[in-house]
Amino acid sequence: MHLLLNSIKCSACGKCASVCIRDNLKLVGDHIEETGGNCFDCGQCMAVCKEDAIRLKVYENQEDRIEDYNPKEIPFSYDEYIQFLKQRRSCRWFTRKEVSKEEYKKLFEAAYYSPSAQNMQDVEFLVVKDNLQEFLEHVYSIIKVEEDEFPRIAQFGDYLKHPDNYKNNPFLWEGKELILTFSNNIMDGIIASTRVELAAYTLGLGGFYSLFLSKADSIDHDKLMEFFPQIDSGKHMSSVFVIGHPRTRFLRTIPHKKIRFDYY
Ligand SMILES: Cc1cc2nc3c(=O)[nH]c(=O)nc-3n(C[C@H](O)[C@H](O)[C@H](O)COP(=O)(O)O)c2cc1C
Repeated sequence: MHLLLNSIKCSACGKCASVCIRDNLKLVGDHIEETGGNCFDCGQCMAVCKEDAIRLKVYENQEDRIEDYNPKEIPFSYDEYIQFLKQRRSCRWFTRKEVSKEEYKKLFEAAYYSPSAQNMQDVEFLVVKDNLQEFLEHVYSIIKVEEDEFPRIAQFGDYLKHPDNYKNNPFLWEGKELILTFSNNIMDGIIASTRVELAAYTLGLGGFYSLFLSKADSIDHDKLMEFFPQIDSGKHMSSVFVIGHPRTRFLRTIPHKKIRFDYY
């Protein structure tokens, strides 16, 4: 059984049973019972209960994470959200200031609330900073098989041998820190990393996703994961985000290609 049901508080309204997608709750007379259905601890039953009569056993020690809110009060407006998205740009030019541990903690808190397939909550992050050079060399040893197709990869190989010939790292520009996202389900990782990225802008941080570093996972996943013995090798590196304190400030929006959508 997954739930702690408080029969004194419960008014037997049946709302919890109606939102459960695993048919784990049913109204029996004047009270609610678990059916032994395949509950995956999503907590929707707990969140809709007006009487606050349900707790998830698995999170019994996390009372501090439970907060009431008014569902009618949406924290920010559509206009504010669109304005925030309008002002988002990829940033490749950074000051020397490092991203602090407090800032990283805040960024990963944004991912805490991500949805995940079957509520797996399997996403984890790794900040690469001290081992950056070794990581880049490891990635290059994997992605160099595509350097005929992508001249940027060949350029990066040359940069690793002769960094003094270059003003910037062809993959990182002025970036010195990376956030790697790992997950079993790649989509879970991408969704979570987007939340981290957007949280970064709210803190005045900036960055960009790296296509070329991400390629290592699709080209030779097993070899890539040799670099991370601490991470379950079944997980994929679903995104690489270069992060830092922006040195460039953008002052206006630019036009984009018209967004295509249809109804079918
Ligand atoms: C999946 C993905 C991979 C990207 N890879 C790189 C990259 O390897 N190097 C880079 O400088 N920018 C990279 N970018 C940033 C894009 O070039 C950038 O989003 C695009 O030019 C539009 O600019 P904006 O983000 O400022 O709107 C990537 C963006 C995405 C979404």
